[in-house]
Amino acid sequence: MKNYLVKKVAMMLSWSIKDPKKRRVFRAKFIAKHTENRYRLYQKRYNMGYGSYAGKDFYVANPRHTVIGKYCSIANYVCLGLTQHPTETLTSHGFICHEYSPFFQGDLDIGEQDNVVHFPDEQLRKPITIGNDVWIGYRSIIMDGVKIGDGAIVAAGSVVTHDVAPYSIVGGVPAKEIKKRLNKKTGGGVPQWEKLLELAWWDYPFDFIKTLPFADVDKCIELLEKNIHLREDKKE
Ligand SMILES: CC(C)(COP(=O)(O)OP(=O)(O)OC[C@H]1O[C@@H](n2cnc3c(N)ncnc32)[C@H](O)[C@@H]1OP(=O)(O)O)[C@@H](O)C(=O)NCCC(=O)NCCS
Repeated sequence: MKNYLVKKVAMMLSWSIKDPKKRRVFRAKFIAKHTENRYRLYQKRYNMGYGSYAGKDFYVANPRHTVIGKYCSIANYVCLGLTQHPTETLTSHGFICHEYSPFFQGDLDIGEQDNVVHFPDEQLRKPITIGNDVWIGYRSIIMDGVKIGDGAIVAAGSVVTHDVAPYSIVGGVPAKEIKKRLNKKTGGGVPQWEKLLELAWWDYPFDFIKTLPFADVDKCIELLEKNIHLREDKKE
Protein backbone atom coordinates (compact mmCIF):
# COMPACT_ATOMS: atom_id res chain seq x y z
CA MET A 1 0.00 0.00 0.00
CA LYS A 2 1.27 3.51 -0.80
CA ASN A 3 2.50 5.48 2.17
CA TYR A 4 -0.17 8.19 2.05
CA LEU A 5 -2.86 5.48 1.84
CA VAL A 6 -1.43 3.73 4.88
CA LYS A 7 -1.67 7.01 6.80
CA LYS A 8 -5.23 7.62 5.58
CA VAL A 9 -6.39 4.13 6.53
CA ALA A 10 -4.69 4.45 9.93
CA MET A 11 -6.57 7.74 10.52
CA MET A 12 -9.89 6.22 9.49
CA LEU A 13 -9.49 3.10 11.60
CA SER A 14 -8.43 5.10 14.64
CA TRP A 15 -11.46 7.43 14.69
CA SER A 16 -13.39 5.13 16.99
CA ILE A 17 -10.63 5.14 19.65
CA LYS A 18 -11.61 7.75 22.25
CA ASP A 19 -8.37 8.02 24.27
CA PRO A 20 -6.01 10.34 22.27
CA LYS A 21 -2.88 8.53 23.52
CA LYS A 22 -4.25 5.10 22.55
CA ARG A 23 -5.32 6.58 19.21
CA ARG A 24 -1.78 7.85 18.52
CA VAL A 25 -0.25 4.50 19.51
CA PHE A 26 -2.69 2.63 17.27
CA ARG A 27 -1.85 4.87 14.29
CA ALA A 28 1.89 4.61 14.87
CA LYS A 29 1.75 0.81 15.11
CA PHE A 30 -0.47 0.51 12.04
CA ILE A 31 1.80 2.77 9.98
CA ALA A 32 4.94 0.96 11.18
CA LYS A 33 3.41 -2.42 10.30
CA HIS A 34 2.34 -1.43 6.81
CA THR A 35 5.38 0.55 5.75
CA GLU A 36 7.82 -2.01 7.04
CA ASN A 37 8.27 -3.58 3.64
CA ARG A 38 9.79 -0.48 2.08
CA TYR A 39 12.23 -0.12 4.97
CA ARG A 40 13.10 -3.81 4.80
CA LEU A 41 13.73 -3.40 1.10
CA TYR A 42 16.11 -0.47 1.71
CA GLN A 43 17.84 -2.41 4.47
CA LYS A 44 18.38 -5.28 2.06
CA ARG A 45 19.32 -3.19 -0.93
CA TYR A 46 21.68 -0.79 0.82
CA ASN A 47 24.37 -1.15 3.39
CA MET A 48 22.24 0.30 6.21
CA GLY A 49 22.71 -0.20 9.92
CA TYR A 50 20.08 -1.26 12.44
CA GLY A 51 17.16 1.12 12.81
CA SER A 52 18.04 3.34 9.83
CA TYR A 53 15.34 4.28 7.37
CA ALA A 54 14.82 6.44 4.30
CA GLY A 55 11.76 8.09 2.80
CA LYS A 56 10.41 7.89 -0.70
CA ASP A 57 12.53 8.20 -3.85
CA PHE A 58 15.71 7.55 -1.92
CA TYR A 59 18.50 7.40 -4.48
CA VAL A 60 21.91 5.85 -3.89
CA ALA A 61 24.24 6.18 -6.87
CA ASN A 62 26.80 3.60 -5.76
CA PRO A 63 25.17 1.22 -3.30
CA ARG A 64 28.28 -0.94 -3.05
CA HIS A 65 30.39 2.05 -2.01
CA THR A 66 27.92 3.62 0.37
CA VAL A 67 27.75 2.79 4.06
CA ILE A 68 24.99 4.04 6.34
CA GLY A 69 25.27 3.66 10.11
CA LYS A 70 22.65 2.80 12.69
CA TYR A 71 19.55 4.86 13.63
CA CYS A 72 19.78 7.28 10.68
CA SER A 73 16.70 9.17 9.54
CA ILE A 74 16.78 9.97 5.85
CA ALA A 75 13.95 12.15 4.57
CA ASN A 76 12.12 11.94 1.22
CA TYR A 77 13.98 12.63 -2.03
CA VAL A 78 17.48 12.34 -0.62
CA CYS A 79 20.32 11.49 -3.01
CA LEU A 80 23.50 9.86 -1.82
CA GLY A 81 25.93 10.44 -4.69
CA LEU A 82 25.29 11.51 -8.24
CA THR A 83 26.72 10.01 -11.37
CA GLN A 84 29.34 12.27 -12.91
CA HIS A 85 29.96 13.25 -16.52
CA PRO A 86 33.30 14.52 -17.83
CA THR A 87 33.67 18.31 -17.71
CA GLU A 88 36.97 18.86 -19.56
CA THR A 89 36.07 17.11 -22.82
CA LEU A 90 34.47 18.22 -26.11
CA THR A 91 31.07 17.66 -24.60
CA SER A 92 29.78 16.82 -21.17
CA HIS A 93 27.15 14.57 -22.78
CA GLY A 94 27.09 11.07 -21.41
CA PHE A 95 27.42 9.41 -24.80
CA ILE A 96 31.17 9.87 -24.82
CA CYS A 97 31.66 7.84 -21.66
CA HIS A 98 28.64 5.62 -21.29
CA GLU A 99 28.92 2.65 -23.53
CA TYR A 100 25.18 2.43 -23.55
CA SER A 101 23.25 5.64 -24.09
CA PRO A 102 19.47 5.43 -24.42
CA PHE A 103 19.28 8.45 -26.74
CA PHE A 104 21.35 6.83 -29.46
CA GLN A 105 20.16 3.30 -29.12
CA GLY A 106 20.80 1.54 -32.39
CA ASP A 107 22.65 4.52 -33.99
CA LEU A 108 25.75 4.44 -31.90
CA ASP A 109 27.89 1.60 -30.66
CA ILE A 110 30.49 3.67 -28.93
CA GLY A 111 31.53 0.72 -26.80
CA GLU A 112 33.48 -0.52 -29.81
CA GLN A 113 35.35 2.76 -30.35
CA ASP A 114 38.63 3.81 -28.81
CA ASN A 115 37.58 7.45 -28.21
CA VAL A 116 35.35 6.50 -25.28
CA VAL A 117 36.33 8.53 -22.22
CA HIS A 118 36.96 6.25 -19.27
CA PHE A 119 36.66 7.81 -15.86
CA PRO A 120 39.21 6.57 -13.38
CA ASP A 121 37.39 4.19 -11.06
CA GLU A 122 38.22 6.23 -7.97
CA GLN A 123 36.51 9.27 -9.53
CA LEU A 124 33.38 7.33 -10.42
CA ARG A 125 33.03 5.45 -7.21
CA LYS A 126 34.09 7.67 -4.36
CA PRO A 127 32.64 6.06 -1.24
CA ILE A 128 30.04 7.85 0.86
CA THR A 129 29.97 7.14 4.57
CA ILE A 130 27.07 8.17 6.75
CA GLY A 131 27.70 7.73 10.47
CA ASN A 132 25.25 6.69 13.18
CA ASP A 133 22.28 8.81 14.34
CA VAL A 134 22.51 11.07 11.29
CA TRP A 135 19.42 12.98 10.15
CA ILE A 136 19.41 14.00 6.50
CA GLY A 137 16.72 16.56 5.65
CA TYR A 138 14.26 16.63 2.80
CA ARG A 139 15.65 16.88 -0.75
CA SER A 140 19.29 16.96 0.32
CA ILE A 141 22.09 15.81 -1.90
CA ILE A 142 25.25 14.27 -0.50
CA MET A 143 28.02 14.41 -3.08
CA ASP A 144 30.35 11.50 -3.79
CA GLY A 145 33.23 10.95 -1.42
CA VAL A 146 31.62 12.75 1.51
CA LYS A 147 31.79 11.42 5.05
CA ILE A 148 29.12 12.49 7.51
CA GLY A 149 30.05 12.08 11.16
CA ASP A 150 27.97 10.44 13.88
CA GLY A 151 25.13 12.52 15.26
CA ALA A 152 25.22 15.10 12.45
CA ILE A 153 22.18 16.79 10.91
CA VAL A 154 21.90 17.94 7.30
CA ALA A 155 19.29 20.70 6.92
CA ALA A 156 16.53 20.34 4.33
CA GLY A 157 17.54 21.17 0.76
CA SER A 158 21.29 21.09 1.36
CA VAL A 159 23.99 20.07 -1.04
CA VAL A 160 26.81 18.58 1.00
CA THR A 161 30.13 18.81 -0.82
CA HIS A 162 32.56 18.37 2.10
CA ASP A 163 32.86 16.08 5.09
CA VAL A 164 30.61 16.90 8.02
CA ALA A 165 32.03 16.77 11.56
CA PRO A 166 30.23 14.64 14.16
CA TYR A 167 27.28 16.33 15.88
CA SER A 168 27.37 19.31 13.49
CA ILE A 169 24.26 20.78 11.93
CA VAL A 170 25.03 21.84 8.37
CA GLY A 171 22.84 23.51 5.79
CA GLY A 172 22.73 25.40 2.52
CA VAL A 173 24.25 25.08 -0.93
CA PRO A 174 27.06 24.24 -0.52
CA ALA A 175 26.37 23.13 3.04
CA LYS A 176 28.16 25.03 5.81
CA GLU A 177 28.13 24.44 9.55
CA ILE A 178 25.16 26.18 11.20
CA LYS A 179 25.94 25.08 14.74
CA LYS A 180 26.96 22.17 16.91
CA ARG A 181 24.36 19.83 18.39
CA LEU A 182 24.26 19.13 22.13
CA ASN A 183 27.04 21.56 22.89
CA LYS A 184 26.04 22.03 26.54
CA LYS A 185 28.86 21.22 28.95
CA THR A 186 28.53 18.13 31.14
CA GLY A 187 29.65 18.04 34.79
CA GLY A 188 33.17 17.11 33.65
CA GLY A 189 33.34 20.26 31.46
CA VAL A 190 33.16 18.29 28.19
CA PRO A 191 30.34 19.07 25.74
CA GLN A 192 27.54 16.51 25.75
CA TRP A 193 28.18 15.64 22.11
CA GLU A 194 31.76 14.65 22.82
CA LYS A 195 30.64 12.29 25.58
CA LEU A 196 27.96 10.79 23.34
CA LEU A 197 30.46 10.25 20.56
CA GLU A 198 32.72 8.43 22.98
CA LEU A 199 29.88 6.37 24.46
CA ALA A 200 28.36 5.47 21.06
CA TRP A 201 24.85 4.88 22.38
CA TRP A 202 23.92 3.20 19.08
CA ASP A 203 26.16 0.24 19.99
CA TYR A 204 24.05 -0.65 23.03
CA PRO A 205 21.21 -3.17 22.73
CA PHE A 206 17.95 -1.55 21.68
CA ASP A 207 16.18 -3.05 24.70
CA PHE A 208 18.40 -0.83 26.85
CA ILE A 209 18.36 2.22 24.54
CA LYS A 210 14.57 2.35 24.56
CA THR A 211 14.52 2.77 28.35
CA LEU A 212 16.72 5.92 28.37
CA PRO A 213 15.22 9.30 29.36
CA PHE A 214 15.76 10.76 25.87
CA ALA A 215 15.07 14.40 26.76
CA ASP A 216 17.51 14.43 29.69
CA VAL A 217 20.83 14.06 27.89
CA ASP A 218 22.96 14.39 31.05
CA LYS A 219 21.02 11.54 32.62
CA CYS A 220 21.35 9.48 29.44
CA ILE A 221 25.13 10.00 29.55
CA GLU A 222 25.17 8.91 33.19
CA LEU A 223 23.18 5.76 32.42
CA LEU A 224 25.24 4.94 29.34
CA GLU A 225 28.43 5.24 31.40
CA LYS A 226 27.03 3.11 34.17
CA ASN A 227 25.95 0.40 31.73
CA ILE A 228 28.96 0.46 29.44
CA HIS A 229 29.32 -3.31 29.93
CA LEU A 230 26.19 -3.69 27.77
CA ARG A 231 27.83 -2.12 24.73
CA GLU A 232 28.45 -4.61 21.92
CA ASP A 233 32.24 -4.24 21.95
CA LYS A 234 32.42 -4.50 25.75
CA LYS A 235 30.51 -7.76 25.97
CA GLU A 236 32.48 -10.85 26.94
C1 LIG B 1 18.50 22.11 10.24
C2 LIG B 1 17.31 22.22 11.12
C3 LIG B 1 17.18 20.92 11.94
C4 LIG B 1 17.65 23.41 12.05
O1 LIG B 1 16.76 23.49 13.09
P1 LIG B 1 17.05 24.48 14.35
O2 LIG B 1 18.10 23.93 15.21
O3 LIG B 1 15.72 24.69 14.96
O4 LIG B 1 17.66 25.78 13.70
P2 LIG B 1 17.01 27.20 13.43
O5 LIG B 1 15.67 27.07 12.80
O6 LIG B 1 17.10 27.96 14.71
O7 LIG B 1 18.02 27.82 12.37
C5 LIG B 1 19.36 28.07 12.68
C6 LIG B 1 20.00 28.70 11.45
O8 LIG B 1 20.01 27.72 10.41
C7 LIG B 1 19.40 28.24 9.23
N1 LIG B 1 18.69 27.14 8.58
C8 LIG B 1 17.64 26.43 9.05
N2 LIG B 1 17.25 25.51 8.15
C9 LIG B 1 18.06 25.66 7.09
C10 LIG B 1 18.13 25.01 5.83
N3 LIG B 1 17.30 24.02 5.52
N4 LIG B 1 19.09 25.39 4.98
C11 LIG B 1 19.94 26.38 5.30
N5 LIG B 1 19.94 27.04 6.48
C12 LIG B 1 18.99 26.68 7.35
C13 LIG B 1 18.45 29.30 9.73
O9 LIG B 1 18.20 30.26 8.73
C14 LIG B 1 19.24 29.89 10.89
O10 LIG B 1 20.19 30.79 10.38
P3 LIG B 1 20.49 32.19 11.12
O11 LIG B 1 21.03 31.80 12.47
O12 LIG B 1 21.50 32.84 10.25
O13 LIG B 1 19.19 32.89 11.21
C15 LIG B 1 15.98 22.43 10.34
O14 LIG B 1 15.91 23.77 9.84
C16 LIG B 1 15.83 21.48 9.15
O15 LIG B 1 16.26 21.73 8.03
N6 LIG B 1 15.21 20.31 9.41
C17 LIG B 1 15.00 19.28 8.41
C18 LIG B 1 13.50 19.05 8.20
C19 LIG B 1 13.24 17.92 7.24
O16 LIG B 1 13.86 17.82 6.22
N7 LIG B 1 12.29 17.08 7.60
C20 LIG B 1 11.96 15.93 6.78
C21 LIG B 1 11.31 14.87 7.59
S1 LIG B 1 12.47 13.66 8.17
